[in-house]
Amino acid sequence: MDSDIANLIKHTNAVADTLPMADLPDSERRQLLQACDRLKAKLETPFDTIARLAFSAHQAIALRLGVDLKLFDAIAAKAGQADGSVSLHELVGATGAESTIVVRIMRFLAAMSVVKELDQGLYGSTPFSAALVSSSPLSAGLIHSTHFISVLAKLPEYFQTNGWKSPDDAFNGPFQFAIDSPHYFDFLSTNTYYGQAFNTTMTMSFRRRGQDWFEFFPVADRLCVPSDDEPLLVDIGGSQGEDLKKFKAKFPALPGKLILQDLPAVVQGACDLPAGIEIQKYDFFHEQPVKNAKVYFMRTVLHDWPDKQAAQILERVREAMSPDSILLISESMLPELGVLLSSVLSDMQMMGSFASLERTEAQWKALLEKAGFELVHTWLPGQCDRSAQSLADQPALFEARRI
Ligand SMILES: C[S@@+](CC[C@H](N)C(=O)[O-])C[C@H]1O[C@@H](n2cnc3c(N)ncnc32)[C@H](O)[C@@H]1O
Repeated sequence: MDSDIANLIKHTNAVADTLPMADLPDSERRQLLQACDRLKAKLETPFDTIARLAFSAHQAIALRLGVDLKLFDAIAAKAGQADGSVSLHELVGATGAESTIVVRIMRFLAAMSVVKELDQGLYGSTPFSAALVSSSPLSAGLIHSTHFISVLAKLPEYFQTNGWKSPDDAFNGPFQFAIDSPHYFDFLSTNTYYGQAFNTTMTMSFRRRGQDWFEFFPVADRLCVPSDDEPLLVDIGGSQGEDLKKFKAKFPALPGKLILQDLPAVVQGACDLPAGIEIQKYDFFHEQPVKNAKVYFMRTVLHDWPDKQAAQILERVREAMSPDSILLISESMLPELGVLLSSVLSDMQMMGSFASLERTEAQWKALLEKAGFELVHTWLPGQCDRSAQSLADQPALFEARRI
């Protein structure tokens, strides 16, 4: 072996053994990961890459089986006791599953280093297995994302059947082709397991990347109503109030009502909302009940809808607005060139679930104009330079007004 390569292998292994993970700032951790990815991309043959990608769904599903069977809960329950090991017999007792299938799933999880195989039929936990217990938001994210694999697997057949054109109808797209339900949100409202997983995933920090919109939008100058009886901010499709809670904490004394709107099945799970946040069950395809609010706000709502339905939602907002009202949309903005993998993954997720898309600034502007709005300004924090990396890290805030 070339001595440079032998040294590189030795050095890489030494770094892997000694890297002080606990002290590593997140930005450095991510840069290191990107460097590893580049190295991996150079080293992998096309066969290696295909093998890795083609079998990644198997691994995600193995984790999902562990979550559904509550194997990780059973392992965690034993982790604190005596030597921390858990036997096959105990796992079978805790889950009620047949011994052979528990062995096969545990064998897979051990091969992925998710659990330790201490001896035949004897297992140990790892930090990763502990992170997959039922109460963890990560297990919710896994349930949500593995469900989507069934839609992805049908995409080739969808295009064969419907022609190779970008899906553009939320009620007749890849989701309906793969799953017998009128729309993803109907499916979620009638399937509690997936509905809860979706709502929890919506609160996860990876979805809350970058600065909150009110950190760089001039709230103090622009968001003002004369009294507490007037609507200040309506969060349309605001899920269980995560954004309004943060807004209220940042501006506790700002006069005016804060109103959370979402579908009944979603807002009924909103809890711990501070005084001053009003909850409304509302379907945004119907007439907007709150008129003349200072701000109508939507965060990662419109990327769920293709232009056809997104324009209808926007029109309901427009009808309720006074000339003084502002529409604020917090969403990803794709660069025209060099879109990063994280952004294209999201674009495909939108296509599969909703026949929708992630949009460039030009596409946002065109959508707003179609619905009778003018894009007044695209807000980003001062340090965001509009590079593909910055835009992947920071949602934009589109400010629009009625034409
Ligand atoms: C991607 S989530 C975004 C949630 C929240 N704004 C956030 O950023 O975390 C989209 C939200 O739109 C809501 N939604 C979907 N269809 C709706 C409808 N017809 N009327 C009102 N809300 C709806 C969903 O329940 C969900 O909470």
